[in-house]
Amino acid sequence: MAFEEITPRELKPELLQLDGISRESVEAHYKLYQGYVNKRNEILGKLESVDLAAANQVYSEVRALKVELSFAVGGVKNHEVYFEHLGGDGGEPGGLIAGLLERDFGSVELWRRDLKATGMAGRGWAWTAYDWDEGRLYNVVGDAQNTYPIWNATPLVALDVYEHAYFMDFGTDRASYIDAFFANLDWSTINDWVSKYQIPK
Ligand SMILES: [Fe+2]
Repeated sequence: MAFEEITPRELKPELLQLDGISRESVEAHYKLYQGYVNKRNEILGKLESVDLAAANQVYSEVRALKVELSFAVGGVKNHEVYFEHLGGDGGEPGGLIAGLLERDFGSVELWRRDLKATGMAGRGWAWTAYDWDEGRLYNVVGDAQNTYPIWNATPLVALDVYEHAYFMDFGTDRASYIDAFFANLDWSTINDWVSKYQIPK
């Protein structure tokens, strides 16, 4: 299996000046993201020479590498959404995303309440994702980098609720961190994704 190494995306300068989420916390968080990229490359490298004939569902090298690859790749993708759509002024969205949130949640405020609750209920992530089969947005919960994304859905908002995302600034007060997350959202980036992915109105 041939693969290409990937390199971490650079951190946008705005990420070091968030409102309520410190530079130290973001820099430490970015290092974790770099770690996911490195492990993704390492695991794919090992899979090139793994003994496929020894595959076994109880334990085998193939199994261990494939399972942890999903964790590493999840960590890469989740954090790329997370870092990319922070650095804005939060507030009320405009553009296409505003219409989608109103259509599928009733109002932006109801979407925000539902995503916050999803984040409080999760052990790792909460996402707002567009489900291409149902043709609508849902807020979905994640307990780890690789649980429980839904097939054929595109994440537009990725709320990291792992403790590493907030403990340095907020201690155990996850709710206040989630409020800070909303206050730093960059709606123009999210609207760019809605356009780029051609999510129907
Ligand atoms: Fe994280």
